[in-house]
Amino acid sequence: MKTSLTGITPNNTAHLGTYLGAIRPALELAKTYRSLYFIADYHALTKLHDPAALNRHVYDVTAAWIASGLDPKRTLIYRQSSVIEVFELTWVLECLIATGQLVRGHSYKDAVARGESPNAGVFNYPVLMAADIILYDTDVVPVGSDQRQHLEIARDVATRLNFVFGEGTVVVPDALITDAPLVPGTDGRKMSKSYGNTVALFAPAKELRSVVMKFKTGSEPLEAPKDPETSVPFQLYKLVASPADIETIRKKLVEGGFGWGHLKEALYDALDAELAPKRAVYDELRADEARLDAILEEGAERARAIARATMARVRAATGIATPR
Ligand code: ADP
Ligand code: TRP
Repeated sequence: MKTSLTGITPNNTAHLGTYLGAIRPALELAKTYRSLYFIADYHALTKLHDPAALNRHVYDVTAAWIASGLDPKRTLIYRQSSVIEVFELTWVLECLIATGQLVRGHSYKDAVARGESPNAGVFNYPVLMAADIILYDTDVVPVGSDQRQHLEIARDVATRLNFVFGEGTVVVPDALITDAPLVPGTDGRKMSKSYGNTVALFAPAKELRSVVMKFKTGSEPLEAPKDPETSVPFQLYKLVASPADIETIRKKLVEGGFGWGHLKEALYDALDAELAPKRAVYDELRADEARLDAILEEGAERARAIARATMARVRAATGIATPR
């Protein structure tokens, strides 16, 4: 069985875009892969310097993934920081990556272009990410296209490690770019925390309904025939409703006599049908941080076993003694 791994940065709370664009596809993959989905808390630290917020986000995203269907018995879920071997491997990889490759890194380059002076963590971010991946013998990494370059760096450095220290020392990972779907936000742009156009994933039903009603639509009168394909709420509807329901609503819009408000009602119903059971699980889990800690620690324990085996191979190959 091949291994799928991804890291979740705990820098905010899950929204409908992260659910449909990242969580749902990764959980689909977990059905046929050995899977490790971890909380990248040390990556969050490159930008987030607020311990209480970091802690909160770790629990938020852990509960969100489990409520969305991640089964911790099948999929290892753990804090990145709980498996400290990742820093040993990071150092080995640091010694194999040219600084020029990191200078060309998108997030570092963009920060410099904005006139910021990014910290060294931002600069070295892709190396820690490569270690996250290589440490667990990962075959595929499901990520959005924004992570493509990071994956190329991970592939390059794994290939280089094997070339320099012996073929088969580590597994060379592949990206699995989950491009589709791009989830639109209430204003029609990509749904993103930074645009303030998100739909909170586990908001109470009433709040969900009022956000859905805020989606931008045309202003045609009720009777007018409407073009579903240019409609933002319809794009979203297509991501959550059944094929039969999508066709029904499409026809109604095209025929006229069906208003944008009706479409948004249908969208709310479809979203609530998908999210209500998950919301209940989320609320219960999120209220029990001790239980979340126990789940994360159990995942970490199993992850550590894999990490130690990889580090034993890497140490032997590089000529670094293994401590007793
Ligand atoms: P935000 O843009 O709100 O800060 P993140 O960058 O934390 O969201 O998103 C985490 C992952 O979720 C991303 O790697 C991306 O693949 C996915 N994602 C986020 N927003 C969307 C969206 N609107 N459509 C599709 N996927 C998304
Ligand atoms: N950089 C990823 C993001 O911002 C998070 C991440 C950290 C990750 N380590 C990883 C993703 C390893 C995949 C594999 O979304």
